[in-house]
Amino acid sequence: MKIVQTELFKEMEKGLEGKEWSSVLMLPSFVMRKSVEGKSGEYYALDLGGTNFRVLRLVLKDSKVVNVQQAKFKIPLEHVTGETACSDGLFGFIATSVKKFIGDSRVNYPPLGFTFSFPMTKKSLNSGILVRWTKSFTTHGVVGEDVCGLLADQFKRHSVPMGVTAVINDTVGTLVTEYFEDDTALLGVIIGTGFNVAYWEKVANIPKYIRANPSADPSHSMCINMEVGNFDSPHMKVLKYVANEYDAKIDAASPNKKLGLVEKMVSGLYMGEIARMALLDLKKQGIIRGLDGKLEKKNGFPSWHLSGCVADDTLRLRKISSILKKNYGVNTTLEERKAFRLVCGWVVVRSARIAATIIGSVVLRTGYEWDCTVAIDGSVFEKTPGYPELMQKAFKDLYGEQPFNIRLVLTKDGSGKGAGLSAALMS
Ligand code: BGC
Repeated sequence: MKIVQTELFKEMEKGLEGKEWSSVLMLPSFVMRKSVEGKSGEYYALDLGGTNFRVLRLVLKDSKVVNVQQAKFKIPLEHVTGETACSDGLFGFIATSVKKFIGDSRVNYPPLGFTFSFPMTKKSLNSGILVRWTKSFTTHGVVGEDVCGLLADQFKRHSVPMGVTAVINDTVGTLVTEYFEDDTALLGVIIGTGFNVAYWEKVANIPKYIRANPSADPSHSMCINMEVGNFDSPHMKVLKYVANEYDAKIDAASPNKKLGLVEKMVSGLYMGEIARMALLDLKKQGIIRGLDGKLEKKNGFPSWHLSGCVADDTLRLRKISSILKKNYGVNTTLEERKAFRLVCGWVVVRSARIAATIIGSVVLRTGYEWDCTVAIDGSVFEKTPGYPELMQKAFKDLYGEQPFNIRLVLTKDGSGKGAGLSAALMS
């Protein structure tokens, strides 16, 4: 853990300095830590980052969200990956979905926040150039482009009277959402399909931002999107101590090879697959039987089933039995179910300990480990029983005798609401 911490501190420094290459991008968000007082009015938010796209309308009264309306649209796969996936298709889909949402309401350029959950370099609050795709996106014509510009073109084409006020990462949105409730919120974290961390950093500690914005006030704090899922990629200087052959296979089969190696160990897009491959090996070695059909296929064991298996605390592991019977038609012996429980548990423990080491290290860097709130959203954190406790245990191992009080708070929908709240905070 300490080795990971030392390496992370080094990479964070390099990323903030911006002179040498670093595995963590440490991207300035242009969202500043300021007073949330007196925010009222209507804000819109867009949320793109996974399989669904969402549009939200928030009403704020005295800085409290008093009303939320939202609609969810499934993004057609043809806009996400494959030969046909292109920027016009993806951003055209966003514009038409927004149009459906606003319908006949008479909106006239309301403040609009856009959560775009991928690495972006920014020159202002309402611009963001996509550095690279992560997760399973490969849409052509977006990398190197300003996503707000692409969206503005499609809004124009589809006569949507809106323009982006703030484009942010989902970790930034999660931090800002919690910050509206609790001003000790220090980090925003997503442990879901992807994995990433944002935190408040003193402007004085972000030399690359000061160089680009010489009039910036060094005493202010800005939210930094770390893009920490890419930490230690591609060389695995420290991750090699916890990596195995299944990680290598996951990486080899991914569209972003040798990138996002931490994310591939921690997040929900990959955990089920890691467990499935390990279990298939046990089958090959004759240790367990069954696992036919779907379980033999690539990505045949989604992470939410893995979470279900970990949740089984019955003596005869009946929950695992029912998950495997119902979803895969597999009958299992108790010994086989124990193997499932063990393998799934192992994948979860590793995920939680890596996530906690990174989070604990970032908190330590800020110097607030004795009292702070870490806002976390994402299916892995929310739906995997025991995950928060595993993280707290890892903090103990990391901090030793040092006193610490890190509250891990589930911040539901930080990714959606956070965009609207960031637009409000900065208005
Ligand atoms: C993206 C991050 C995002 C995280 C969680 C990663 O794949 O690169 O920008 O915050 O997923 O959605």
